[in-house]
Amino acid sequence: MSIHALYGSPPAGLCEIPAGARQCSPLVPGSLDLENPGEALASLTMYAPPGTIERRYALALALRAMSTLAPGTALAPKDKGGSRIGKELEAFGCVVEEDSKQHHKICRFQKPAALSGIDEALREGAPRFLEALQLHTQPGVFSWDRLDSGSLLLLECLPAFEGRGADLGAGLGVLSRKILESKKVKQLHLAELDGRAVRAARKNITDARTVFHWCDVRNVSELPANLDFVVSNPPFHDTGAEDRSLGITFIKKSAALLRAGGVCWLVANRHLPYEQAMQEAFSNVKLAKETSAFKVFEAFK
Ligand SMILES: C[S@@+](CC[C@H](N)C(=O)[O-])C[C@H]1O[C@@H](n2cnc3c(N)ncnc32)[C@H](O)[C@@H]1O
Repeated sequence: MSIHALYGSPPAGLCEIPAGARQCSPLVPGSLDLENPGEALASLTMYAPPGTIERRYALALALRAMSTLAPGTALAPKDKGGSRIGKELEAFGCVVEEDSKQHHKICRFQKPAALSGIDEALREGAPRFLEALQLHTQPGVFSWDRLDSGSLLLLECLPAFEGRGADLGAGLGVLSRKILESKKVKQLHLAELDGRAVRAARKNITDARTVFHWCDVRNVSELPANLDFVVSNPPFHDTGAEDRSLGITFIKKSAALLRAGGVCWLVANRHLPYEQAMQEAFSNVKLAKETSAFKVFEAFK
């Protein structure tokens, strides 16, 4: 009984986090796999995700992994699922004590001797193959049940690449799958923060030229340099809030990974002001395509 599990990063001052708690959010590279933690959890602190299916799945996984009577705290902003956590835990058989603080609901409970309804939550949130998309995927992953419009536009524009490249923020591997259609691509590195997406992408792409990296592109050091091309539909949200600096970091990282003359293809929502960062990072930036919603850049280092 030694694992104290922490899921996500609760804001300071809302709950106590046991010393030495082990991260188990799929959004933290290298974190403990709640599906297979190895031993029973002695306690759980969960900053619960906003999506209902994803949250119920994470709560059900955690409850299954906890030892009987182990204490748990699950919290979230009231308007991002927090006001529903209490009822969700009760439906799983927990007796819940609810508290409110700084626009959050904080629910304390113990794992009951008998759980109810977790199988349904585990089924609803489980990884699956979507016939319509021909993709392995999972609720909670970016654009898990439809192709993103920005990615679709970028797919229309991508040329047949040659040599070694990377897909930064590769998600389920939608862009990578297309890139690998070119036989002249020698190696492709998929870099992605969400471990669930990486797991699905490994099933979606079984090409031997592929290397998967469960990593944070902001501080990854394991990607090789001198690449011939980089492709990205960069994220612009960090833990739910818009964060434009994330996209700018992806732009700088793309340039840093390329050889001189290497090319970056990147799609961005129109409202995001990436032009200056692109101009600063690359020697030649072209607007390859624009629509009322997106811009596609082709930029040479
Ligand atoms: C706009 S989505 C694009 C996904 C995929 N390329 C596609 O076209 O469907 C951005 C992706 O970046 C991932 N991501 C977010 N922050 C990241 C980070 N710091 N490092 C690596 N990937 C990140 C997200 O999980 C998401 O899968």
